[in-house]
Amino acid sequence: MSEAKDKVQGYNGHAYFSIDDIAAMLPGPARLMHEIGTRWWKIYYASQETNWPLAEYEIKEMEELFEICMVTRPKYVQWMEPFLHQDVKAVKDAVKKKDWKGFEAAYHLATKNANDYHKAANKPLIHWKLPAMPPPDMEMKPLA
Ligand code: HEM
Repeated sequence: MSEAKDKVQGYNGHAYFSIDDIAAMLPGPARLMHEIGTRWWKIYYASQETNWPLAEYEIKEMEELFEICMVTRPKYVQWMEPFLHQDVKAVKDAVKKKDWKGFEAAYHLATKNANDYHKAANKPLIHWKLPAMPPPDMEMKPLA
């Protein structure tokens, strides 16, 4: 954290922060990808349960996380934009049509492409895989 009092822009009750301090704390993919992975997991199992409104909701939230990644780390726009506009769009279209078969094909292709984008972005160690069980923290079935 910078100390310079003349740069002080804000106080959180404990310390003073410059705008640069605050900018440095904005989350990038290292933090947001965990949440993206969890939402991506929910999108699959919600769709499998034909809980299409939940799948649609999780897609929207995931898109917003990618938008934040692209603001805080613009170097990833070149891969995240095509991923959103092609891969995620195909998944979203299948969800809107309530088309499980179409969804499955689009989802697995998008997952493969995401891992290819990890390689392109020089993160070859990151290979996301769909957990074999539904997320334990939320009901995937449509609520009555
Ligand atoms: C649904 C699609 C995706 C999923 C589920 C996913 C999931 C993940 C996960 C789980 C991590 C590792 C987080 C950690 O433990 O450190 C990660 C890292 C990362 N992902 Fe993705 N990802 C997706 C799409 C993408 C795309 C399209 C890009 C575009 C380049 C991307 C770029 C990155 C980068 C740069 C990191 C490394 C962050 C860092 O440590 O600095 N991801 N991703």
